[in-house]
Amino acid sequence: MNAEEKPIEDIVRENAHAFQTPYYLIDETRLLKNLKRIALVRERSGAKSVLALKCFSTWSVFGLMRRYMDGTTSSSLYEARLGHEKFGKEVHAYCVAFSPEDIEAVRSIATKVIFNSTSQLKRYRSRLKGLPLGLRINPGVSHSHFDLADPARRYSRLGVSRRSDLEEALPLISGAMFHCQCENDRLESFCRILDHIGEKFGSVLRRLEWVSLGGGIYFTQDGYPLDGFCRRLAEFSKEFRVQVYLEPGETAITRSGFLVTKVLDIVHNERDIAIVDAAVEPHMLDLLIYRTDAKIDIAQKGKYTYTVAGRTCLAGDVFGTYRFPEKLRVGSLIPVADASGYTMVKKNWFNGVQMPSIVVRRLNGRLELVKRFQYKDYLTNLS
Ligand SMILES: Cc1ncc(COP(=O)(O)O)c(C=O)c1O
Repeated sequence: MNAEEKPIEDIVRENAHAFQTPYYLIDETRLLKNLKRIALVRERSGAKSVLALKCFSTWSVFGLMRRYMDGTTSSSLYEARLGHEKFGKEVHAYCVAFSPEDIEAVRSIATKVIFNSTSQLKRYRSRLKGLPLGLRINPGVSHSHFDLADPARRYSRLGVSRRSDLEEALPLISGAMFHCQCENDRLESFCRILDHIGEKFGSVLRRLEWVSLGGGIYFTQDGYPLDGFCRRLAEFSKEFRVQVYLEPGETAITRSGFLVTKVLDIVHNERDIAIVDAAVEPHMLDLLIYRTDAKIDIAQKGKYTYTVAGRTCLAGDVFGTYRFPEKLRVGSLIPVADASGYTMVKKNWFNGVQMPSIVVRRLNGRLELVKRFQYKDYLTNLS
């Protein structure tokens, strides 16, 4: 029997003595909600979805994910290998630049290989006989809030942008990949980009069998117009007679992961500052890179304001400032939301801070400790 979507604070409180903090908590019930939407899109539009491992590669929940998704897509040999070993189904191997050794290893595990340039395609294609090959195309337009993550930024190296290169490569490929969206939760913007791709590359698409539209489309969000999305995908697929793929990363796992922390100290400097047993740079690096605050669901409109900070020596190791409904004290538990995408894959041992364990809340509501890190892991990380 599936467990209900319980408030995270209740889950954390009920298990306060079962697990040592800090820990990442992945809730399969919340994950399932996203996965069902992905499956619905497949059913209604025919578009297959492969999980972008660069965003999320915590394989303890792949057993659930593989029931709703078609495989994985990768950005390196190791990710391709993980997809092959732990997820199965389709393995799309993409890399900004493959080495000859990568190609040797990838050819026995990939079901499709996608090159970033025509020079790599020409260099390696003879070693990949029999495998469907694709090319990443830079369509010159994008939806991205950050220049750092904009694949169509000026001088971008991500994908082929010269028409002559593309024409030359066409006889050698059966598919193409366009990844040009980032955190796009607007259907109109997605449609505008798709129209542009259709208009600019229609003659190319008609000569292909499959087209991946990449990731960055937030179609699992509550309220996203799924009907319109599915209709547009199906039209695109029919017009160009291609199998469409999507590469959801964040979309697949959004709102399903937390970083559960505990307050170790409360200090005061003009305001109250709660120091927790985790930290931003080693455990939620993207907050620093993109200069955003962590999400703490319970702390929206309460009476008690605290800055929540990490325990590294970095002065800016700050999760954000929040209004809690109750006073915090040493020992208070604080679950940070949206903590599984581009976080767990980037965690590091900066300051030697205790690495959060990984706990999975299974569909039946049972919590399982799937990984615990120790001093040995810190030690063997370097030599
Ligand atoms: C080629 C490619 N596919 C898929 C993704 C996943 O995007 P998201 O996690 O935003 O869905 C990315 C992210 O950078 C990407 O570069």
